[in-house]
Amino acid sequence: MCPVTQRSPAVDQVDVTDAQLVERTIEEVADRGPLRAVVFAAGLFDWAPADEADPASWARLFDVNLTSAAVLTRLVLPHLLAAAPSALIYIGSGAGHQKFANNAAYVASKHGLAGLAGAVFLDVRDRDVKVSLISPGLVAAGAGALSPAGQARPEQLLAAEDVAAAVRFVVTFPARGCPTEIHLQPQRNPN
Ligand SMILES: NC(=O)c1ccc[n+]([C@@H]2O[C@H](COP(=O)([O-])OP(=O)(O)OC[C@H]3O[C@@H](n4cnc5c(N)ncnc54)[C@H](OP(=O)(O)O)[C@@H]3O)[C@@H](O)[C@H]2O)c1
Repeated sequence: MCPVTQRSPAVDQVDVTDAQLVERTIEEVADRGPLRAVVFAAGLFDWAPADEADPASWARLFDVNLTSAAVLTRLVLPHLLAAAPSALIYIGSGAGHQKFANNAAYVASKHGLAGLAGAVFLDVRDRDVKVSLISPGLVAAGAGALSPAGQARPEQLLAAEDVAAAVRFVVTFPARGCPTEIHLQPQRNPN
């Protein structure tokens, strides 16, 4: 989790599955100044057929990718509402909108995140909190960099900066509008 304030360059590293620590960290960050933008980017990847996957890995994946996002949402919204106009942004995935074999837990968690983002927007839109889901395809980072395309043609994948540019687009978008969903794909098919 990386709570962003305009004033402080400080970075706090927390385990997003530790709700008490997340709550304390949010309070500390909000004490430094109004919390106007929060990006939830934590994510675990799992690559295994559904009948062979490790149940503990799946549980951990859902905890990080979805449960933590929901808990953080509840904890951070009072601050974003107090500082509105403000923005809450989730880094989803193309896997939140389509299905991939051998990837069931990740696909399900990102579909869940898409539902969370859409529903939360409805709850806070009239109080000037933007809620946005950014769904990248293959990025030259993390599991994307380790994929066959990432290994063979990393220059054709999205870069982390491209995702950051989409975050900036949401945060700086005029307060009368909200880019609720942004889909990013590499311009050229990397596969
Ligand atoms: N790479 C792709 O092709 C791609 C495509 C679409 C969407 N995404 C999404 O983009 C996001 C970033 O992923 P990435 O590809 O850049 O992979 P990454 O480098 O492995 O990033 C995953 C991030 O999640 C953090 N994280 C994992 N468990 C955490 C926990 N319990 N508490 C706090 N932070 C935790 C990691 O922190 P540490 O480094 O400290 O462990 C890391 O910063 C993820 O949500 C991923 O699903 C990636």
